[in-house]
Amino acid sequence: MSILQTIGVRIAGVGSAVPPRRLTNKDLEKLIDTSDEWIVKRTGIHERRVVDPETEGTFTLARDALKEALDNSGMKGSDLDLVILGSVTSEMTCPSTACRIVDALGAVPAPAFDLVAACSGFVYSINIADSLIRSGRFRCVGVIGCDAMSTMVDYSERSVSILFGDAAGAAVLVADEDPTLGCLYQSMYSDGGLWKSLYAPRRPQEVHESDKDNPIRLNNLRMNGREVYKFAVVKFQDVIREALEETGLTVDDISQFVVHQSNTRIIDAAKERLGLPDEKVYINIDHYGNSSGGSVGLCLAQLWEAGKIKRDEYIMMVAIGGGMTWCANIWKV
Ligand code: UT7
Repeated sequence: MSILQTIGVRIAGVGSAVPPRRLTNKDLEKLIDTSDEWIVKRTGIHERRVVDPETEGTFTLARDALKEALDNSGMKGSDLDLVILGSVTSEMTCPSTACRIVDALGAVPAPAFDLVAACSGFVYSINIADSLIRSGRFRCVGVIGCDAMSTMVDYSERSVSILFGDAAGAAVLVADEDPTLGCLYQSMYSDGGLWKSLYAPRRPQEVHESDKDNPIRLNNLRMNGREVYKFAVVKFQDVIREALEETGLTVDDISQFVVHQSNTRIIDAAKERLGLPDEKVYINIDHYGNSSGGSVGLCLAQLWEAGKIKRDEYIMMVAIGGGMTWCANIWKV
């Protein structure tokens, strides 16, 4: 039996954190030329959470989410032997936010790193964590997906400001003697040729030719919504279909599809095409918007807390994001 089959991975606990401040569609109507009706119809979003940049950010949200996951696991920071944070909004490029979280939670000298995969951040991170635990080198890994997207949104521009919100979701993964527990299937992809669909240039020379008239400020997010939308609709369905085909499982075998809250219409298209029942596809985009790397972890934590994820059931996580990146997994929890 290979080492991959001798070690299982158990989700010991999950947690989440969102800032208290709500930014409603009505609030946005006062800032930009948009309407509550347009936003709800095109995205399904009514409100999103945004940080107070003076006191909150990716560090505080991600730290609080992992702390809650540890508490819910009955564990402490010193039990962690690795922390991975999927985020595109880390306050600093050096040090990583993950390193500061290790310090804040008493996990020094656990290794830590930030992983950049945009909206795919949590699913990439949990896939990698599962593989590292199965390798036998790590026994307890804190995984966080967190983005404070409001810190990179230009609120004078309507193409992205309506979509994004801030949130963090976390999970504590531990090695388990039952090798059937954990990620039984995972996929991760990227296509950097599509980078200009969703990017945040730091310098003028990084602004793509097709974007030169775009008024969005440097360091803020630019998105060709139409391009991303078309890509996401296709890939969202492709990764779900592929995961089911590769494992021989059917929609009936999956208890919950924990999906990135990109846009209600993208999720609805997958539900319709693949026959995913409403009760198996959790939606919280109406209240939290698209929180990028935070979204799948937040959904997982909310589902867990509501008792909708049960031991020994199969769940599937799915995400698509900037890069472009796309990914999925199937877990026996
Ligand atoms: O998380 C992964 C990354 N992101 C995504 O998955 C997002 C994918 N894309 C989307 O969700 C959608 O493309 C958006 C919600 C961002 C935009 O919806 P859309 O249906 O693709 O709108 P559009 O950009 O094609 O614009 C349609 C019309 C345009 O007007 P005209 O040219 O038809 O007169 C826009 O100027 O809607 C106008 N428009 C707006 N109107 C009111 C664009 N943004 C707004 C707005 N309020 N905020």
